Amino acid sequence: MIKAYAAQQAGGKLEAFTYDPGPLEANDVEIDVDYCGICHSDLSMLENEWGITRFPFVPGHEIVGSVASTGVAVTHLKAGDKVGLGWHSGYCMTCPTCMSGDHNMCSNAKGVIIDHHGGFANKVRAQAASVIALPDGIDIESAGPLFCGGITVFNPLVQFDVQPTDKVGVIGIGGLGHMALLFANAWGCEVTAFTSSEAKRQEALEMGAHHTIDSRDPEAIAAATGQLDMIISTVNVKLDWNAFLSALKPRGRLHFVGATLEPIDLGVFNLMMTQRSVSGSPVGSPATIAKMLDFAARHNIRPVIETYPMTQVNEAMDRLKKGQARYRIVLRR
Ligand SMILES: NC(=O)c1ccc[n+]([C@@H]2O[C@H](COP(=O)([O-])OP(=O)(O)OC[C@H]3O[C@@H](n4cnc5c(N)ncnc54)[C@H](OP(=O)(O)O)[C@@H]3O)[C@@H](O)[C@H]2O)c1
Ligand SMILES: [Zn+2]
Ligand SMILES: [Zn+2]
Repeated sequence: MIKAYAAQQAGGKLEAFTYDPGPLEANDVEIDVDYCGICHSDLSMLENEWGITRFPFVPGHEIVGSVASTGVAVTHLKAGDKVGLGWHSGYCMTCPTCMSGDHNMCSNAKGVIIDHHGGFANKVRAQAASVIALPDGIDIESAGPLFCGGITVFNPLVQFDVQPTDKVGVIGIGGLGHMALLFANAWGCEVTAFTSSEAKRQEALEMGAHHTIDSRDPEAIAAATGQLDMIISTVNVKLDWNAFLSALKPRGRLHFVGATLEPIDLGVFNLMMTQRSVSGSPVGSPATIAKMLDFAARHNIRPVIETYPMTQVNEAMDRLKKGQARYRIVLRR
């Protein structure tokens, strides 16, 4: 039996919940959870903001632990290996998208917290392809957030061939955003943090930003007109997207990873005249996660975390909801 924390209804308290995972499938791995980060998507799913949550709901998809047991067909992992698991718990492994290495875009990929119980638990199971070994040199306690927030902001650097000479902006310095500062700085870029929190400005500079701008002040954003190669939005609210578009150089890209529900309202002329692009992306493939972990180990990139015991999961969720997390909360089992 697996001991977890589940909510029975949208916005409900997380309470002790036990379930029987059944026999271990041939291609699956069971993980003993050591730590689990809390992503804003856990909160959005808990509150059923996206209308897809099934209850009882067990959040948690930034999992680090050790392999407890492996299915008979699993060959690349063994009991005791230190591993992590992020947003996806499995992929179809046969569609053209999976076969091209883009597993994270597989239309049949399964989510760790979608119709599946997540990592706010003593154990979690997933298809071995989605379980990634931790490289030497990674700090176990702070590694969980790399598996969703970290890969989500690292992936665009790879997908769009961002150069060390590029100027990159990051909107929203929360869980994802602070890791974007760490990665973009280590990538060699000149980094601008767009934040609505005056109190985060100094820390943003310490985490790798070279400049900070108020993300809610169109005049301050206008002062950066035509300067950036890429802007990554990690916020889940509507901001003045046309102002951010204007901050891009010709051929610049406004890239969305934050799950803003309100449609974006962009002036076409602002795209057309300077050949700018708008895009979005989901987490990253298993191969890109492994690449990201190696990069993080080599550059000593560690998410900035606050650790709570898993028994205080409701207090921790509340702190994230109030925007008080600095910068990612990690639950310790
Ligand atoms: N694409 C993907 O695959 C993927 C993966 C993971 C998460 N997500 C999504 O990414 C988003 C961010 O997740 P997270 O865990 O980083 O959340 P988070 O820690 O809560 O950070 C979000 C940040 O957005 C900014 N923000 C919030 N409310 C704002 C407002 N009213 N005005 C201006 N800025 C505001 C804040 O930054 P400042 O204080 O600096 O302004 C806040 O720290 C969520 O929507 C999540 O669901 C997407
Ligand atoms: Zn997430
Ligand atoms: Zn597939």
